[in-house]
Amino acid sequence: MNKLIGVTRNFCSSSTRNAIKTVTVVGGGLMGSGIAQVAAQAGQNVTIVDLQPEILDKAQKSIQNNLVRVGKKLYKDDASKVEAFVKDSFDRIKVATKVEDAVNADLIIEAIVEKLDVKQELFNKLDQLAPGHTILATNTSSISVNEIAAGIKRKDRYGGLHFFNPVPVMRLLEVIKGEQMSEETYQAMLAWGASIGKTCITCKDTPGFVVNRLLGPYSAEAIRLYERGDASAQDIDIAMKLGAGYPMGPLELSDYTGLDTKKFVLGTIYKKTSNPVFRPIPLLDKLVEEGKLGRKTGEGFYKY
Ligand code: 3HC
Repeated sequence: MNKLIGVTRNFCSSSTRNAIKTVTVVGGGLMGSGIAQVAAQAGQNVTIVDLQPEILDKAQKSIQNNLVRVGKKLYKDDASKVEAFVKDSFDRIKVATKVEDAVNADLIIEAIVEKLDVKQELFNKLDQLAPGHTILATNTSSISVNEIAAGIKRKDRYGGLHFFNPVPVMRLLEVIKGEQMSEETYQAMLAWGASIGKTCITCKDTPGFVVNRLLGPYSAEAIRLYERGDASAQDIDIAMKLGAGYPMGPLELSDYTGLDTKKFVLGTIYKKTSNPVFRPIPLLDKLVEEGKLGRKTGEGFYKY
C-alpha cells in the first residue's frame, strides 16, 4: 500500500525541502497521466497539456480510476475518506491544449512522442515562455537528454526525470544530470522525487540510462530465445517469474510497455553504442510492422 502513495522509506538523498508546488506535464499519454497523478496525490497543483482533447479526456478518466484504486488501499472500507482523497487529488489537476496556457509552473515535465526534433521544438518554446525559475525536464526513455535541450538557454535548470510504467506503482525515478545542470536544480529534482514518494537514482546522460540499458539486453535475449523456438513465450515468462523472482516475464513485460517502445529503446541505444546486444530483432520488427504492439493493440507476443 505504502508504495502507491510514497510514504515508503525514501532514498532520495536531498537536504533541500521540496520547493516545487506546481507542476505541468506536457503529454497526456500513459506516462504523462501517471506523472500528473502522483504529483496531485502528493498535494501539488498539476496541469496536463495535450494538443488532443480526447487524450486529455482519457487521461482524466484513467487518473480517476487509478486514484480510486489508491484511495481504497489507503482507506480500505471508509468510503467517505476514499471519496475525499479522490476528489482532493483530482481537483488539483487541470488540463490545457496549449503549452502557452500552462507555463506558469515550478517544474515542467515533457512526456510527449519520442522524436528528437519534436522534443527540441517543445523545449525551445518552453524555454522562451516559462518563468525564469521554472525547471524543465524530459521523461525520455532513451534519447540523449543533452541533445533534447541543445537549443535552450536555461541548461542549468534542466535535466531528465525518467519514470517507469505504471507510474503510480513503480517506485523508481531516474534523475539524469544534464551536462550543465546546477547543484540547486539537482537538489530540487531529488527533493521533488522524494515528495512524490519515489526513490531516486542519479545517472549521467548515457544511452538507456540505468534501467533501459540493463532491461534492453535482457528482453532482447528473451525475444531471440522465443524467435529461435528454444522455448515457448509462456515458458520463458514463467521461468523468469519463478526462477528469478521478476513480477512479470520479459515477453509479458514487453507487451505491457509496448513493442513499439521496446523497438525504439533498443534501436536508440544500438545507434549510440553499436553494442550488438541491442541490434534489430526480425521478430520484433515484424510484430511492430503488423501493428501488434502488445496489450494496447490487443496482440503482441500474446493475444489479449
Ligand atoms: N495505478 C494505481 N495502482 C495500480 C496501477 C495503476 N496504474 N496498476 C496497478 N496498480 C496496483 C494494483 O492496484 C495492485 O495494488 P496492491 O498490490 O496493493 O493490491 C498492484 O498495483 C498490483 O497490481 P495488480 O494486482 O493489478 O497486478 P500485478 O500484481 O500483476 O502487478 C504490475 C502489476 C505492478 C504492473 C507488476 O506486474 C509489475 O511490477 N510489473 C513490472 C513492471 C515494470 O517492470 N515496469 C517497468 C517497465 S520499463 C519502463 O517503464 C521504462 C520505459 O522507459 C519504457
